[in-house]
Amino acid sequence: MAGTWATFGVDLHLELAGHRVRAGLERALRDAVRSGRLTAGARLPSSRALAGDLGVARNTVAGAYSQLVAEGWLTAAPGSSTRVADHAAAATATVPFAAATDVDRPRYDLRAGYPDLSSFPRSSWLTAMRRALASAPYGALGYSGPQGRPELRNALAGYLARARGVIANADRTVVCTGFTQGLSLVCQVLRSRGATTLAIEACGHHNHRAIAVANGLHLRLLPVDDLGAATSELGDAGAVLLTPAHQFPLGVALGPRRRAQAVEWARATAGIVIEDDYDGEFRYDRQPVGAMQALAPEHVIYAGTVSKSLAPGVRIGWLVLPAHLVADVAAAKDKADRQSGALDQLALAELIASGAYDRHVRRARLSYRRRRDRLVSALEQQAPEVRARGIAAGLHALLELPSGQDEDELVARAAHHGLAIEGLGHYGPTGGHRPALVVGYATPPEHAFSGALARLCTVLSDPVRAEL
Ligand SMILES: Cc1ncc(COP(=O)(O)O)c(C=O)c1O
Repeated sequence: MAGTWATFGVDLHLELAGHRVRAGLERALRDAVRSGRLTAGARLPSSRALAGDLGVARNTVAGAYSQLVAEGWLTAAPGSSTRVADHAAAATATVPFAAATDVDRPRYDLRAGYPDLSSFPRSSWLTAMRRALASAPYGALGYSGPQGRPELRNALAGYLARARGVIANADRTVVCTGFTQGLSLVCQVLRSRGATTLAIEACGHHNHRAIAVANGLHLRLLPVDDLGAATSELGDAGAVLLTPAHQFPLGVALGPRRRAQAVEWARATAGIVIEDDYDGEFRYDRQPVGAMQALAPEHVIYAGTVSKSLAPGVRIGWLVLPAHLVADVAAAKDKADRQSGALDQLALAELIASGAYDRHVRRARLSYRRRRDRLVSALEQQAPEVRARGIAAGLHALLELPSGQDEDELVARAAHHGLAIEGLGHYGPTGGHRPALVVGYATPPEHAFSGALARLCTVLSDPVRAEL
């Protein structure tokens, strides 16, 4: 379906593919703002006019506008038109990370992807930074190699072996700018070694798919069910990207047989498994299952990040690599940006070595566990037909909606109630999964969690009467 409207004499063409019209409209509008086709301050047509032009329901357009207002791309004031926000074109370019600025953050935010930023351990970080800077040799302020500071790689080797069961070794570790850069480096190297296809969980992070494609890899989408990704479908892929500890966003753990199957596939075909252990420390019902990497360290790349354990803005991640990939990945890192920032690496090394990192993770685990318990019990009482799926882990939960409830409509209603939240469809093909919401219960600061939960329950328990 396609439509065109004229805004101040500029025709804007929107392609709305597929049956998820609202999601398609949101995407088309984001793209138009991001690419500059809709400029800051530009007035959008009324929801009635655009709905008429596109031949869709007015609610669909109103819902898309509300969502984009909540995300900070558009602004709307009572009695005036919806407009493109001033800062919108410069807003974060990828949808799952589409965080608004502090000023524009929606009042209640349950989008997945964030830890509670208000609980960042500021004083421990300051202490660690002060100590690290005071004791850093001059040389640490120069270029010190693409793999990253040895202090951090040593601290990580100890931590990952202890906390995640990784067969870790400082010499095989490359510190990178978050998992995002790590994935990009690995894709580059795999492509340069002849891999053509990356198998990837069908429902997952948009950015990760985009990174693989930008590095010349084709994608093979693996369906995900209650046992995780269908590892029987790896076939002739050169590599696979998995979230074994806690699938993002469906929230299931990769079953033991599938873990073994992925490893057998890697051994038999010389394939590579990329293990994205983005929230592996956060398991609430039992000890976390150890990293898959330990099953086959010569075939599995273990990837970690502080984006959930501390804060995404720190931009530190790491790869623990099979020996045969270390030199190439380090060379790719050198080419990309020579190395990650030394001072932050030294501060993180100090934070880990002093025990402050473990203490912070323990505190955060307790806090998120309580939030998840509160979410589950509030739903049991106020919206019993909504089911929380997936394991008790991580920073997000999947809430399956009862039949008859439309994901996009609920997201729109939530936005209308000042609550930003995302539907499962936001993360790609959902296969046979029921409509669901992905709830990032760690995202709000502590003081805002109760309010956000109450909003969510209102929207879920009375979706029909909650007026738009
Ligand atoms: C599935 C998944 N992997 C990894 C990350 C972390 O990426 P980065 O370390 O680049 O912040 C995220 C962050 O939201 C994520 O959702």
